[in-house]
Amino acid sequence: MSDSQGTSTASSDITRRELMQAAAVIGGAVLGEQLVPGAISPALAQAAGAATAPLDVSLRINGTEHRLSLDPRTTLLDALREHLHLTGSKKGCGLGQCGACTVLMDGMRVKACLSLAALAQGRDIKTIEGLAQGEELHPLQASFIERDAFQCGYCTSGQIMAGVACISEGHAGSPQEIREWMSGNLCRCGAYDHIVAAIQDAAAVSSSTQEG
Ligand code: FES
Ligand code: FES
Repeated sequence: MSDSQGTSTASSDITRRELMQAAAVIGGAVLGEQLVPGAISPALAQAAGAATAPLDVSLRINGTEHRLSLDPRTTLLDALREHLHLTGSKKGCGLGQCGACTVLMDGMRVKACLSLAALAQGRDIKTIEGLAQGEELHPLQASFIERDAFQCGYCTSGQIMAGVACISEGHAGSPQEIREWMSGNLCRCGAYDHIVAAIQDAAAVSSSTQEG
């Protein structure tokens, strides 16, 4: 609504402020390559949707290049699951709180539900589907099976991808250290003791391989 001067009334001012605020948030997301959940109201997201055109994005997933036409707001997790049918990465919370969606980006763990697919272009993305070498499981996959480190399995792919990073970062020196550096990955079944043991085992394999 506008008055005779063409200036906005209180209600449209709020909308404009929301837009400004969202633009700032999206700027932060670009810098941090992470979305800030809940920062944009559904009405605003809808309004933004009307103004967005599909974006051509090329994603390198597990060594294979994929060309996609995506809504610019598509998260990496939705691109993987909904567009590429790589459903190993799970959507638990969609808010960055559970870690079920963890993947590696250039070797670093990221929560795919908070990462924009468009910003993953040119990066090397590894998901649980790309961890084994043919028939040979990654040592951490093998130790998860050996140690019975899951019950329902919903958190497992995220736990394994985070665990791979935890080991390569050098944060698997003790059960306490593993617990601390794996604290972003939740397990509703409470399989934590087994998960920690599996990561310890795989870390030992990795250090003996490096020494050998
Ligand atoms: S689904 Fe990404 S952190 Fe929960
Ligand atoms: S094994 Fe069920 S949530 Fe972790």
